[in-house]
Amino acid sequence: MLAEALEWLVTPASSLARRSGLLAGQIAIRHRASRCRSLWHGHLQATRRYITSQVAALTPHPQQVIVLGSGHLNDIDLDALLELADHFVLVDIVHPLEVRWRSFRAGGRIELLEADLSGSLENALAGGKTLLPVDEAIRSRIMSADCVISVNILSQLPVGAHDLWAKSGCSEAEIEHLSHTIIKAHLELLHQSQHGLLISDQVARLRGLDDKGNSITGAWQDLLFGFALAKGDEEWIWQIASHAERGDGYEEERKVVALRLATRFED
Ligand SMILES: C[S@@+](CC[C@H](N)C(=O)[O-])C[C@H]1O[C@@H](n2cnc3c(N)ncnc32)[C@H](O)[C@@H]1O
Repeated sequence: MLAEALEWLVTPASSLARRSGLLAGQIAIRHRASRCRSLWHGHLQATRRYITSQVAALTPHPQQVIVLGSGHLNDIDLDALLELADHFVLVDIVHPLEVRWRSFRAGGRIELLEADLSGSLENALAGGKTLLPVDEAIRSRIMSADCVISVNILSQLPVGAHDLWAKSGCSEAEIEHLSHTIIKAHLELLHQSQHGLLISDQVARLRGLDDKGNSITGAWQDLLFGFALAKGDEEWIWQIASHAERGDGYEEERKVVALRLATRFED
């Protein structure tokens, strides 16, 4: 806890990232990733392999690649990618210290942009529920990039504002609608880019034991507020939390899909 508090103090972050809790959330991911290292290994490796192979297959050689939700880069093999493209733009609400250091050492090849990719936080913090469009400067970078990769962020986008909306009296139906709109806008952005890649968890379920010690498995729960993604180029199961990690007698797994968003989708 002390390490996390110290990290919160020293990480350069916008007031939006601090007040919304997303800085704290990102710091928590670092510690969780370390506790769940072996459990997450397969998922992180599958994500890294998919991204690297897709960027390697791009012709001509990509000049500019944008990563949305870069975070700690646990699921991105940036060294391998730097062999494959000239310039990387990493976009997240906050960039951890180690990623800032890496960018500093990369001689201008790794650019960091901070943005709320949900468009929800500013207004939610002020008690409102209007969504803002993605910042125009970031949108135009996304439109002109050779490849845009959304990496394990899609289901997280509505999470930051969820509790703020609930506190300001939004009904569950309103929150569902806002969350659906955020997911839709992100998918549209990827569809409009020249080459959009999406890696996202889409459903989650719990496993545990009943009173008699028999194993029970819950139904898959939607994480994308009604969006069914097309079949992935690749799909896998992410063992996201053990019994010990959840602390409630259940373990949690998620289905992850990795795909190119080539055609427009139907809402
Ligand atoms: C599950 S992590 C993705 C994994 C990340 N690539 C990594 O390896 O750490 C989700 C990331 O999305 C970012 N994020 C969540 N909500 C966001 C928002 N509204 N705008 C921008 N980034 C957001 C978090 O800061 C975090 O880095």
